[in-house]
This record gives sequence, structure tokens and C-alpha cells, in this order.
Amino acid sequence: MSAAQGGPAGGGGAAGGGVRISPSMMCADFLHLEKDILAMSAGGPDYRGVDYLHVDIMDGSYVPNFTLGPDFCKALARASTLPLDIHLMVQLPERHVPSFAAFPGAIVCIHPETSPHPLRTLDLIRGHGARAGIAMDPAMPVSAVTEMLPLVSMVCVMTVNPGYAGQKLVPSTLTKVRELADLVRARGLDVEIEVDGNVSWENIPRMVEAGARVLVAGSSSLFDGKADLAQNLRRMRKLLG
Ligand code: DX5
Ligand code: ZN
Repeated sequence: MSAAQGGPAGGGGAAGGGVRISPSMMCADFLHLEKDILAMSAGGPDYRGVDYLHVDIMDGSYVPNFTLGPDFCKALARASTLPLDIHLMVQLPERHVPSFAAFPGAIVCIHPETSPHPLRTLDLIRGHGARAGIAMDPAMPVSAVTEMLPLVSMVCVMTVNPGYAGQKLVPSTLTKVRELADLVRARGLDVEIEVDGNVSWENIPRMVEAGARVLVAGSSSLFDGKADLAQNLRRMRKLLG
């Protein structure tokens, strides 16, 4: 998707500084949500706040778990103007596009194998005013998505098997990030490459070096509970340089 058509610039932006952070809201403290969102979006004197809010929607069918829904997204939209980075882990996502694609500046990612006609569903997402994206299960090869790349603003590479926080990285997914980054660059596409799952302090430099430009920060970094959110966000921005 070209930048002029609403894709944010910087798919292949400079390493480190051009990397965006999308906190995984399923890892947030639901009893102090607004406080946490304000801490993450504000940033501090020497570090920038987060760029998106990552929202995992699970239906108990495509993945064996249930998490968040449209009402949670409405609450986030009341508390913040940050774009919602909505990750649909649901069967037949086309049924649910109207519930998620209307949030201002939202990006909605589907797992292509869950929709009989993924190109039509990507059109539907854009038709509802959102940016469209695809999420790739660790088993999905790059060759399976090449037809979709010109139609998306983001590719979310799952670096763990979808469905749960707190899992370990699937190492082969970093090779896929590199392959995808090379392909996007070679075709001159403005597609943000996102990594989702075990985005830990150790894995972040390897993920960015491979070509990731959006980091879904969950239980192994931002929400690791070893320091408060502001300290962890500052640490992440310093790590990204
Ligand atoms: C898993 C979700 C991720 C998850 C990441 O299916 O898509 O966003 O919350 O959690 P960590 O960072 O703990 O792997
Ligand atoms: Zn996710």
C-alpha cells in the first residue's frame, strides 16, 4: 500500500529510531487501564510514548482462548487517541469487520486462512475506513501472502503460536521477517512489518535487525512486572536508539 493511500510511511524506515511500539493490551492491568494507557502514551522528558495499542481479539475457535472484544476497544478509544492495532484471531473475520474497523486510525489485521476470500475481506476493512493488514501464523510461508502485500499497510509476523501471552519465540520466524523485509523493499511497498510474541529484551535487537518496524510489547518486555511501565518504556526506547 503506498503512503499516499493512508499507509503510514516508514515501512523500511531507519532502524531503531523509526521503530514503533504497540503494547499488547491483553497483558495490561485491567484494574488500572486508564492510568497505564496515560503512562504509555505520554512518554517522558527523554523518550517517546507508544505508537499504537495492540488489541488481541480471540474467538475460542481459531485459537483456543478468549480475550478482548468491541466494548474493550470502545473503552480504549475513550481513554486515548492512539490508533488501535487490532489483531483478529477469529474465524470468518469478515463478519466482525464493522465492529472493529470504525475506530479512528485503526489498523485491522486478519489471519488470511480464516477468511474464504481474504482479498475481499481486506477491501471490506478499507471500505470501513481502517487500514488493512494480515497476520501470519508461524507455519505460514511468505509465498502464501505475496498476492496480498500490495493491498495491506501491515504484516504481523507471529513470532509465537497465536493464542497466549508468555510463550517462547519460534526461531524460524526471524528468517521469515528478513525474507519479508527484503521482498517489501524490493517491491517498493510501504508495508509495516510487525512482530508479535515474546518480544523480549533479548529478542528485540534481533527482530529489528531482521527488519521488524513495529514491536508488540507484552509480558516479556513492557509488561514484565520487573519495573513500572514508564521505566520499561524508557528502557525500550533506549534499546531502540
Ligand atoms: C498472542 C498475542 C500477543 C501476546 C504477546 O497470540 O497475539 O499479542 O499478547 O504476549 P507476549 O509478549 O507475552 O508473548
Ligand atoms: Zn497479537
